[in-house]
Amino acid sequence: MSHTPDALLEVAGLSVDFRTRSGTVHALDKVSLTLASGETLGLVGESGSGKSVLSFAIMGIQDAAARISAGSLHFAGQDLLANRGKAMRTLRGRELAMIFQNPRVALNPIRQVGRQIADVISRHTGVHAAACRERALQCLAEVRIPDPERRYDAYPFELSGGMCQRVMIAIALACKPRLLIADEPTTGLDVTTQAAIMRLIHDLSARRQMSTLLITHDLSLARAYCDRIAVMHAGHIVEVGPSAELFAHPCHPYSERLIAATPHGAAALSALASIPGNLPDLRRDDLPACRFAERCSRYGASCDAALELRPLSATHSVACHRALEDAIPLRLETEHVTSA
Ligand SMILES: Nc1ncnc2c1ncn2[C@@H]1O[C@H](COP(=O)(O)OP(=O)(O)OP(=O)(O)O)[C@@H](O)[C@H]1O
Ligand SMILES: [Mg+2]
Repeated sequence: MSHTPDALLEVAGLSVDFRTRSGTVHALDKVSLTLASGETLGLVGESGSGKSVLSFAIMGIQDAAARISAGSLHFAGQDLLANRGKAMRTLRGRELAMIFQNPRVALNPIRQVGRQIADVISRHTGVHAAACRERALQCLAEVRIPDPERRYDAYPFELSGGMCQRVMIAIALACKPRLLIADEPTTGLDVTTQAAIMRLIHDLSARRQMSTLLITHDLSLARAYCDRIAVMHAGHIVEVGPSAELFAHPCHPYSERLIAATPHGAAALSALASIPGNLPDLRRDDLPACRFAERCSRYGASCDAALELRPLSATHSVACHRALEDAIPLRLETEHVTSA
C-alpha cells in the first residue's frame, strides 16, 4: 500500500469487530484517516460511533473480545500491526500517548502525583531517581500546576478535577510523544476549566509540533482547536475536511445534522438526540453500505451502492453518493469557468 508522504499517522481501511455473546459487533468498518506532523484532527460523532475503539486500536490497547479484521496502521512509517513486540510497546508508550476522560480513574489513587510522573520518566528513560524527580517537577510546571514542589507529594484526591487532568497531561507528555490522543479530555470539568485545559493542550502541541487527535462530543471545542475534522457515524468516517470549511459547508447529511443540532457553538451533547433515529445495531449482518441510510432524509436508490470516502476537493472528502452527485455539477461549473 502506498503511504501519504508527510503523514505521521496513517490509518487505512481499518476494521475492528468485537465477538460478544449476542453476536459480532462491527464497530469499525474500513476506517481511513491520516494525521500530519503538528496537526490537530478532531474526531466527532455520537456516542457509540467508534471514536474510542479507533483510538484504542491506534494505541494497541485492546479488549480480549476485539479483533482487527482488516486494514493497516502506520506511525512514522512503521507498521503498528505487524509487530506487537517490545519495540512496538516502547514506541506506543513513548511516541504515542493518550489522555482519557476521567483523570481520577486513570491516576493511581494511592501514589503521589509527582511520583506517578517520575515513574513514567524512569520506565522510559532509565535515568536515576533524582533526575526523574527533577524532570517530573518541570513537567508539573509545564502544565501550569502552581507550586510544583508542594503538589509533587499530593495524592489525586487532594487535587481538583482540572488539576488531575493537568497531571494526566504531564504524564502523557513526560516522554515528549509525537502524537497525543485526547479522548474527551474535558468532559466532566466546568466550562472555565475546560477552556483552560484545551488551551494548555493546544499550546503544548504547538510548542512541540506534536500531532493531536482530539476526540470530542463538543463541536465548539473541535471548531476552535482543530485544523481538520473527521466526522464518524456508526463505525464509518463519513466526512473529513478543514475545520472552518466543514463547519461552514458540511456535505454529508449526518454532518449537516450534527452541526445544525449544536447551533451557535453550543456544546450540549444532549442536543445530538435531536438527530432523528438511532445508530443502527452494529451486530446486524445486513448493515447497509451507508450506515446512515435508514436515518437519512436524502436517501435514494443510489445510496445502496458500495460506498467509500471520495474526494470533493484536495482536502475535503465525503462518503455519500448524494453529496458526490451534488458536487459533480459544481465541479463541472468550476472547470468550465477556469478553462474559459
Ligand atoms: N468491549 C466491547 N465489546 C463489545 N462491543 C464494544 C466494546 N467496546 C466498544 N464496543 C462497541 O463499539 C461501538 C463503538 O464504541 P465506542 O466506545 O468506540 O464509541 P464512542 O464513539 O467512543 O462513544 P462515546 O462518545 O460514548 O465515548 C459501540 O457500539 C460499542 O458498544
Ligand atoms: Mg468514547
